[in-house]
Amino acid sequence: MPTTSLPRVALSRRGLPGNPAATLAPHAEVLEWPHERPPGPAELRELAADCDGLMCWIGDRIDAELLAGAPRLRVVGLASAGYDAVDLAAVRAAGVVVTNVPGVLHETTADLAFALMLMARRRLGAAVDAMRAGGWTDNRMDGFLGLDVTGATLGIVGFGQIGQAVARRAQGFGMRVIHHGGRSSGAGLSRRVDLDDLLQTADVVTLHVPLTDETRGLIGARELALMKPTATLINTARGGIVDEAALADALRAGRLHSAGLDVMTDEPRRDPADPLFGVPNLVVLPHVGSATEATRARMTDHAARNIIAVLSGGPALTPVPG
Ligand code: DGY
Repeated sequence: MPTTSLPRVALSRRGLPGNPAATLAPHAEVLEWPHERPPGPAELRELAADCDGLMCWIGDRIDAELLAGAPRLRVVGLASAGYDAVDLAAVRAAGVVVTNVPGVLHETTADLAFALMLMARRRLGAAVDAMRAGGWTDNRMDGFLGLDVTGATLGIVGFGQIGQAVARRAQGFGMRVIHHGGRSSGAGLSRRVDLDDLLQTADVVTLHVPLTDETRGLIGARELALMKPTATLINTARGGIVDEAALADALRAGRLHSAGLDVMTDEPRRDPADPLFGVPNLVVLPHVGSATEATRARMTDHAARNIIAVLSGGPALTPVPG
């Protein structure tokens, strides 16, 4: 039970960047998950049980079972922009406010999308692997030939903050930009097209939609077959948006030039022998899209300020939409 009259807030990770515990401390009794590893579902339920607020990170499931065991809970402050691990109907029914952190990570994530584009199209992952294996035997003129990013047609699926930040970067690469989705027409930056049109036209397709019932499996075998054999698929959004087996098949069969994934289904992937890691022309990264010191600190700070706002009786700064 709480030892002070302050509300109690649990952080589901220890040692978070930006030290949100210090931001919360004047407003709440702060309880930090004590281990390096993340809590499992039962441990998260236990952590949340006597809390008024909970700060969560990707992978933490907020569902009816957790909410039933946390009768005091008033706010779940996600330190992420994505909120696909939250059962929105259950939190609404429980009267719990859920907040996320839009507007603080889009530029950093857009940088990573470009890093993946360059890695995949220029075969940089294979080049680094070859170097490490002592494979730099000759400055061959035909070694590691890739495809240009400069001048290519970029298709952005999802034209929110991250998609638009990617479009701005594309100007510097002299890319022609088309997009699907989002509220913006893209005036001056991009032209809106339908999804099939985008898949057929783009040299690089980059995904920036949230994972929802509508976007789960959005890019499957049919969509991959629409893409050019010289095209590259980039996913920095969520794993479930792409059918990974269909992507692996397309890459192995040479029906797609390359792909870069920062996100996968069932993260994290701990097995070094994971079949996905061995797919040719596929660069995989461990969900580091927003992983810079400044951005991750902004994310936890914003999450802490959301929690403080709700526990102080005010509106959340950025409640999740819907
Ligand atoms: C998010 O915020 O949802 C990202 O995936 C984490 O960088």
